[in-house]
Amino acid sequence: MPRALKIYIVGLVVLSVVSLTATSLAFKVDPRIAIDIDGSATVSDLDKLAGILFWIAIGLVASALPVKMPRGMVVAVSSAPIFAAMALGGPAVAGWVALISTIEPREVQGRIPWYGTLANHASLVPPAVIAGLVAEALGRGSPSHFIDFVAVMAGASSMFLLNLGLASVLLSIRTGESLRQMLLADSRTFAGSHITLAPLGWLMARMFATEGQGGWWATLVFALPLYTTRLAYHQYVEMREMFTQTIGALAEAVDKRDPYTSKHSWRVKEIAGDIGRVMRLGEADLEALEWGGLLHDVGKIGVGDDVLLKQEQLTREERIKMNYHPVLGAEIIAPVTRLKRELPIIRHHHEWYNGSGYPDRLVADEIPILARILHAADAFEAMTAARPYRMVPLTPEQALAEMRKFSGIQFDPKVVDAFVKTKWALGVHDPGAPVVVRQVPMITDVAAGAAKADTGRAADSAPGLEPHN
Ligand SMILES: [Fe+2]
Ligand SMILES: [Fe+2]
Repeated sequence: MPRALKIYIVGLVVLSVVSLTATSLAFKVDPRIAIDIDGSATVSDLDKLAGILFWIAIGLVASALPVKMPRGMVVAVSSAPIFAAMALGGPAVAGWVALISTIEPREVQGRIPWYGTLANHASLVPPAVIAGLVAEALGRGSPSHFIDFVAVMAGASSMFLLNLGLASVLLSIRTGESLRQMLLADSRTFAGSHITLAPLGWLMARMFATEGQGGWWATLVFALPLYTTRLAYHQYVEMREMFTQTIGALAEAVDKRDPYTSKHSWRVKEIAGDIGRVMRLGEADLEALEWGGLLHDVGKIGVGDDVLLKQEQLTREERIKMNYHPVLGAEIIAPVTRLKRELPIIRHHHEWYNGSGYPDRLVADEIPILARILHAADAFEAMTAARPYRMVPLTPEQALAEMRKFSGIQFDPKVVDAFVKTKWALGVHDPGAPVVVRQVPMITDVAAGAAKADTGRAADSAPGLEPHN
């Protein structure tokens, strides 16, 4: 475990213990949370404990059904019972319910390392306690429904933001990804879940309190929307996963036609995603790079084996057929509305920065940025993988030197600069950006330009950085 992570977790645990102890001493448990179990008219400590245990039980059931989001954060609907407990019992109760009700079966079974469990709970307790304090200050428990609602919503919002912040720092230290990236990654989904769960928590609390002692069972009716919310998340994640896998299978089917390009698209996707992360792209763009990376060569489905698998240099006609694959790929994907963002990546992944690429001969910023990123990833993967015309692939050093050499000509210099910061160039000697930006004469004839730009399998001399891929 990295030292920074250790220090951070210890800090969180100390903060949790201090905040929980301090609020437990300073705040009495609000009798509104009590469930009358001894039949007496007065609210005993036992009644209050029963109420707290009731919310912990609901939380535990909700925590047993967590949903893992694409970037690694976990969404559980257990925040609704925490908000409800906070609305009814005050800051200390919020802290205790957050601590205990979020225990997951995976933790009990020991499937999560102990420090992971500790970190998860410790990044939840201080936000819950602070949320309770915010709600308290704004008039939680007021006879006015409006004031109570606003106070609980404000408390819930502070809990959401603080928890998101603490969990993002934790994940950022663990994965080495930028904090901004972590914050942005799942925040939209989190915000969505928060908007649904906070009012639901308040409603559950209101029902619990209004029905009075003995009417607590009516609250259980809300377990149903809680369950459907959880089901919706689960289905979203499952569908996304299924979509990625299907696209991956399709890409692999295309790559497999040529034994030398197996896993090409999958690796291009990985490299492009890493460049995108270095360039601090948003979540939607990263997703487009992921799916666009997998699908970029799907148009090769329409290129015959005689051309696709040809070992010798392609003729002019064959080259034209081959160079049609980005257009064909975009045409194949066009009917899939969910892949609208990926279309320009697929169509333009062979454009050159100086305008001598294909199919549209776009220049510099005219080429969509995601296509420029994919182009660099594609070239690096092609250069460092074995091909029949070059059984010994280029080393990462040689490939990076080529990319630097053709920076500003074939590649966007910004993309190359970002690429050298990814793990693919880790420990690789970087010759640095070229001092003088070379002026390459523009080629006016499209076919001639394309032929020159893409020198084909046999002629693997520079600038043949992108043989067929
Ligand atoms: Fe391609
Ligand atoms: Fe490719």
